[in-house]
Amino acid sequence: MRELRATAVALALCAACGSALAQGDAKRGEYLAKAGGCTGCHTEDKKDAVPFAGGRALKTPFGTFFGPNITPHPQAGIGSWTEADFFRAMREGDRPDGKNYFPAFPYPSFTKIVDRDLRDLWAFLRTLPPSARASQEHDLGFFYRWRFLVTFWKWFFFTPGPFTALPGLSDIANRGAYLVQALGHCSECHTPRNFFGGPKKSRFLTSRPRASRSGATKTCKTFSLRASTPKATSSQRRWAKSSRTPPASSRLRTSTR
Ligand code: HEC
Ligand code: HEC
Repeated sequence: MRELRATAVALALCAACGSALAQGDAKRGEYLAKAGGCTGCHTEDKKDAVPFAGGRALKTPFGTFFGPNITPHPQAGIGSWTEADFFRAMREGDRPDGKNYFPAFPYPSFTKIVDRDLRDLWAFLRTLPPSARASQEHDLGFFYRWRFLVTFWKWFFFTPGPFTALPGLSDIANRGAYLVQALGHCSECHTPRNFFGGPKKSRFLTSRPRASRSGATKTCKTFSLRASTPKATSSQRRWAKSSRTPPASSRLRTSTR
């Protein structure tokens, strides 16, 4: 009898741990949201702005994007979403209705976030107080308004799929590579872009972006960054080519100069 009870307790505990795992850890998600800089684009640039309720203007050569409300408000935010919708947005750059997101939402980097971290991020977003602040329409140039055009952009410049550890690197270096490539989305600003707004892979992380004069709207320069940097070193070029195997000598400090 006692054994039975022990088994039942163990089962109950395991169910709890199982569902905790499946549900994601909101506390960890909060830290990941900081690493991903979500509020940088999803919070208005003013005092007393509600975090994650949207409204930051991102000026680009294609027009101005506004980070939407991602609090769990059922209409104004993403309260009606399932976790699967969230995974699809971050991993595939697709809206729940199947249309494309514009890559001003850095999903070309976020696609590399691993499942467990996505689950934790989602758990954290669900804990936010819902805000009724309505998301703004983006204000884009005539030619850039159509979401279906992003399909072509994706063909050329987007490779979905989570980060996998780089062979030959220590665990710590791999942790860093993951933070740089996935959550930190460093290359979104530090890799120069071509005419179509696609990253120039051969110059991975070689761009030194210029901050805007006010300093307050750094993110607005995301797409207008021009390479003011010397050419990538051959080892950096090799890393960029494989985009997977950073050479031991690749130091961010030199690559952002
Ligand atoms: C560089 C700016 C930027 C950063 C950083 C950013 N986002 Fe976004 N995000 C956007 C933009 C712009 C959109 C809207 C894209 C569109 O309409 O096509 C968006 C859309 C979204 C959406 C879809 C919302 C909807 O209503 O459809 C989700 C979910 C989201 N972001 C989550 C996140 C999370 C989580 C993070 C942090 C890990 C994050 N974003 C960081 C710019 C950003
Ligand atoms: C949204 C755009 C953006 C993202 C994303 C971004 N940066 Fe930057 N970064 C900038 C800008 C703009 C500057 C220049 C700031 C200045 O000059 O005041 C800069 C400057 C730097 C510098 C100083 C370079 C120098 O030569 O002085 C380093 C180092 C750096 N970033 C590292 C990173 C790392 C690491 C990541 C990813 C975790 C990252 N950045 C992500 C925009 C970005």
